[in-house]
Amino acid sequence: MSVPALFQPFKLKDVTLRNRIAVPPMCQYMAVDGRPNDWHLSHYASIARGGAGLVIVEATAVAPEGRITPACTGIWSDELAQAFVPVVQAIKDAGSVPGIQIAHAGRKASANRPWEGDDHIAAGDARGWDTIGPSALAYGRGLPKVPTAMSLDDIARVRQNFVDAAIRARDVGFEWLELHFAHGYLAQSFFSAHSNQRDDIYGGSVENRARFLLETLRAVREVWPEHLPLTVRFGVIEYDGRDEQTLLESIDLVRQFKAAGMDMISVTMGFTIPETSIPWGPAFLGPIAERVRREADVPVSSAWGFGTPEIAERVVKEGQLDLVMVGRAHLANPHWTYQAAKELDLERPSWTLPAPYAHWLERY
Ligand SMILES: Cc1cc2nc3c(=O)[nH]c(=O)nc-3n(C[C@H](O)[C@H](O)[C@H](O)COP(=O)(O)O)c2cc1C
Repeated sequence: MSVPALFQPFKLKDVTLRNRIAVPPMCQYMAVDGRPNDWHLSHYASIARGGAGLVIVEATAVAPEGRITPACTGIWSDELAQAFVPVVQAIKDAGSVPGIQIAHAGRKASANRPWEGDDHIAAGDARGWDTIGPSALAYGRGLPKVPTAMSLDDIARVRQNFVDAAIRARDVGFEWLELHFAHGYLAQSFFSAHSNQRDDIYGGSVENRARFLLETLRAVREVWPEHLPLTVRFGVIEYDGRDEQTLLESIDLVRQFKAAGMDMISVTMGFTIPETSIPWGPAFLGPIAERVRREADVPVSSAWGFGTPEIAERVVKEGQLDLVMVGRAHLANPHWTYQAAKELDLERPSWTLPAPYAHWLERY
């Protein structure tokens, strides 16, 4: 019996994933002072035991002011990095590859947890903090806080924060590093003219708006081991009415990411303005990801609505994606990979699970 495309191994640099299923970074909003705890350990262990080839730990802040909420994880100190060791070990013990997304939330930082409003923490509330961004422009809607426009020193400091975070992630055993350059957070907000109106070398032309991203990527590549994958999550489209122009600029930037040492791109949306018309639907980003894959000649992953087995199988088989990110479906069922293995008729599907589960599912 032939093995479904979704269950073919995937090799990137010296890392081989057991299948094409990845759990994308998903904030848990359960940390205290940046520190992961028992919640994170049980969550990531459970999802990794479900059988996905790659588990990427949630957006983890490179600096305290870069957290989305006070309950986001951070990796701005060696002590915080050490707290990830059990999580890394649990993912590895389950046969999955441990990845982490390092992030700075920029002007979207200092927010309440999604289920507590998803909006900026009110002025005067001691839980909040001052935000930074490329320009003193607020995102809007529930995130009205105006960030302080970053000085050149601020830019150099945050770039170094990313480098230090990458070193710590490397030293505690993560084997896959993703830079969060998406979703309207700091790096994406440098690239977007909606949020970047600087008139220095970090703003204005597309080359200048790309500078912070490329400099950060290059600096991280110098410390992240050459044999391990370095990926970028980047919003290539905003759905703001000027999509072809944004896509062309984005694809050109993805080519530059590749030249700067990026191994794979995770194709997503920009989310730098609230007013968009996103054509939500199953696998709607598939054709965009395929275009990036073809035109930038780089391996791609993507998320948003790929989490049904037939869709996930199809997009790999048709060459739209190399790796399928399955997020919310894993929250609903940490054993999503087993479900997919059964639905796609993988021979002996239960062996996607650990032996204490698998043994009983085939026996009777
Ligand atoms: C609870 C939750 C937390 C998320 N946190 C992050 C994050 O930390 N970093 C990120 O890039 N995307 C984040 N996302 C977006 C997911 O990575 C993914 O793109 C999204 O869930 C769509 O994929 P899906 O349709 O398979 O769920 C989050 C999504 C959810 C549901």
